[in-house]
Amino acid sequence: MEFFFVSLLTLFVLCVSLSLHFLFFKNKPGNLPPGKTGWPFVGESLEFLSAGWKGHPEKFIFDRMAKYSSHVFRTSLLGEKAAVFCGAAGNKFLFSNENKLVQAWWPDSVNKVFPSSTQTSSKEEAIKMRKMLPNFLKPEALQRYIGIMDTIAQRHFAAGWENKEEIVVFPLAKRYTFWLACRLFVSVEDPDHVARFADPFNLLASGLISIPIDLPGTPFHRAIKASNFIRKELVAIIKQRKIDLAEGRASPTQDILSHMLLTSDENGKFMQELDIADKILGLLIGGHDTASSACTFIVKYLAELPEVYEGVYKEQMEIAKTKGPGELLNWDDIQKMKYSWNVACEVLRLAPPLQGAFREALTDFMYNGFSIPKGWKIYWSANSTHKNPEVFAEPMKFDPSRFEGAGPAPYTFVPFGGGPRMCPGKEYARLEILVFMHHLVKRFKWEKMIPDEKIVVDPMPIPAQGLPVRLYSHKA
Ligand code: HEM
Repeated sequence: MEFFFVSLLTLFVLCVSLSLHFLFFKNKPGNLPPGKTGWPFVGESLEFLSAGWKGHPEKFIFDRMAKYSSHVFRTSLLGEKAAVFCGAAGNKFLFSNENKLVQAWWPDSVNKVFPSSTQTSSKEEAIKMRKMLPNFLKPEALQRYIGIMDTIAQRHFAAGWENKEEIVVFPLAKRYTFWLACRLFVSVEDPDHVARFADPFNLLASGLISIPIDLPGTPFHRAIKASNFIRKELVAIIKQRKIDLAEGRASPTQDILSHMLLTSDENGKFMQELDIADKILGLLIGGHDTASSACTFIVKYLAELPEVYEGVYKEQMEIAKTKGPGELLNWDDIQKMKYSWNVACEVLRLAPPLQGAFREALTDFMYNGFSIPKGWKIYWSANSTHKNPEVFAEPMKFDPSRFEGAGPAPYTFVPFGGGPRMCPGKEYARLEILVFMHHLVKRFKWEKMIPDEKIVVDPMPIPAQGLPVRLYSHKA
């Protein structure tokens, strides 16, 4: 009898092992992309991040493209199995398969504080919002905001730059883009009220990409607290606005908040107050350090390249000369800023504010002869084309003429991403950057105070000391 039970047990163990073995082999994905996954859990995260801290985030990508494959390689980032898709073909594949084979994915820390990602708000809500956002941020809707941008830029330069011999660019650029966002999204323009938002906002931005440990004292904890504070303030503003709109004290077109309150979806449904607060918070975050990093690098490159400065100066002064006293910039003026925008694009190519973004595989699929298992994270990287000599000849050379005529080939210049998830703030960013350039060159020439200041990419590129410059006013 005992023998019978031992045999039964052995048979059982055998069956289980065999089925596990079978399952393992059956589900073992075939031909994974070449690469290595590094240390348990941390994977290659440290190599990935430290390439950025050293100012060369592209090194992580190019080293592996050379070693494994110029199309796709395997790695492990932020505790996730991942594949990095490279080149224009990789970008095209990801951008055209959004919500079919892949969907957006954000690291855990972002998910918990960044409300516009699909995971936190309901998926339906995010899709709805994604459909509505371009309406608030499309060129036609933004045209009427150019004059307001001009007014805020004038005040910003008067308060932060004029009558100063030395300034630090990055904090000032942040102040400019944040002031604009407060005014254009929710009509908050009083400097004291803006400042009340600015501090929690900086805490939020710096805790966003951090280790998601929610304990007192951690950057992540501070970010969550800050995001709750800002949401509460936003909800108060939204409630007041509803009253003001109903009583005719606010205008339906004065800012993005009014647009959101008064625009219904295709079923005639309006957004809830908290949803609106979340979406505005998402916009504030999306546009915060990105545009200010771009403005900072414009100042840097114009300091280094006098002939490029001269080109921008000439173009902007031609526009300035056509203006009467107190006359604000308008849509036609922006259309004339062609060279300036080519310069800004070249800056975005060489110093993309976002290095890339993640997707998640919705199903098993094949790419370039390799299998990508469901659930894997996929990263697209702006640098894999921006700094690739096969795509942009002499990639480290600053050459705005690359953007003349038809410009770069499709899917090669991707600072704003592409496909359905392309940055909805692209046009808004173009306007705020061009208005910034106008006021900057109209007033000043400048020189860098630290000639070879280090660049740190964490996660946005910024000069390590914030780019201190010595200003020379044209009037002097
Ligand atoms: C130079 C400035 C900017 C750059 C380079 C930039 C770049 C990007 C990129 C690369 C993405 C991710 C696309 C992806 O997942 O593939 C993105 C997303 C986003 N951006 Fe921007 N952005 C800029 C400015 C702005 C501004 C000013 C706003 C707001 C007005 C904004 C709002 C957003 C939002 C809300 C998302 C998330 C969209 C989604 O989840 O579907 N961005 N941006």
